[in-house]
Formats: sequence, structure tokens, C-alpha cells
Amino acid sequence: MRVRLTINGEARQLEVDPRQSLLDVLRETLDLTGTKKGCNQGACGACTILLDGKRVLSCLTLAVMHEGARVTTIEGLAKGEELHPLQAAFIEHDGFQCGYCTPGQIMSGVGCIAEGHACSAQEIRHRRSDRRRGGKERTMIPSGLAAKSRR
Ligand code: FES
Repeated sequence: MRVRLTINGEARQLEVDPRQSLLDVLRETLDLTGTKKGCNQGACGACTILLDGKRVLSCLTLAVMHEGARVTTIEGLAKGEELHPLQAAFIEHDGFQCGYCTPGQIMSGVGCIAEGHACSAQEIRHRRSDRRRGGKERTMIPSGLAAKSRR
């Protein structure tokens, strides 16, 4: 099936298998491997992207369901050499651990801030989509608050 998506600002027309998740289209068809496949069942948040500006677990949705949608992945956050404030805050606060989940955490944080839900440490803790990495709180919360203050 054919689907039209705007991915990181670029209009794309894609032939996809109707059973393909948006995550698999991003990673396998478009080679945008910044979005990670962790659990592939909606539990870890590693695959978080923005779909029309809202946080979505891309492993849980089919690409064909989103005709005309705007998709933002971790590759689309920076403006040239200028990192998104949350990317910069992750570097500043050493927020990476092994790094595999970092793109999903950053995309979740960007969506959370855009939705106006990153006003306090407690709110960030409650709203993050990456629930498997307890140790991330040490860096995710200061990073989120720092990024919000830079907006
Ligand atoms: S890979 Fe999508 S939530 Fe884990």
C-alpha cells in the first residue's frame, strides 16, 4: 500500500506492507535507525517518536494508519549543527547510560515539554514513557527541567 508521510520535514511517498509498524518503516525502509526497537510491544518507550507533534510508541502503530501525518524522529530534532535544548541538556547532565534508549527518552521528553507537562520533577517522573530504566531519573529530571527552562 502507498502512504504519504512528512518525515522530519521531508514529504515522502512510500510503498509499505500494510502489516508494517511505523517503527519498522522508519528503521527498515527509511534507514532512520535512531528510533530504537526495544521490547516491540509497547512497554519500554525506546521507539517513541512524535506523530503530528504527539508522543507515540511507533512499535504499536501501523504506518498505513497515518496517511498525511507529520513524523518527527530523533534525526529530525537538531537544526543543522544546533542541538535541540533537550539533546544539549542530556549531554550537559550526562544522561546516556548505554545510549540505546536515549533517542526514545529524548523524544518522550520533547513531547512532554511541548504538551506543557514538564513543570516539576514529579510530573516528569509520572509522564515519561520509558519506564524500564529507573536509574534514568537522576539525569532525565534535571535534563527535562533544564531543557524546559531554555525554551
Ligand atoms: S519498542 Fe516500542 S515500546 Fe518498546
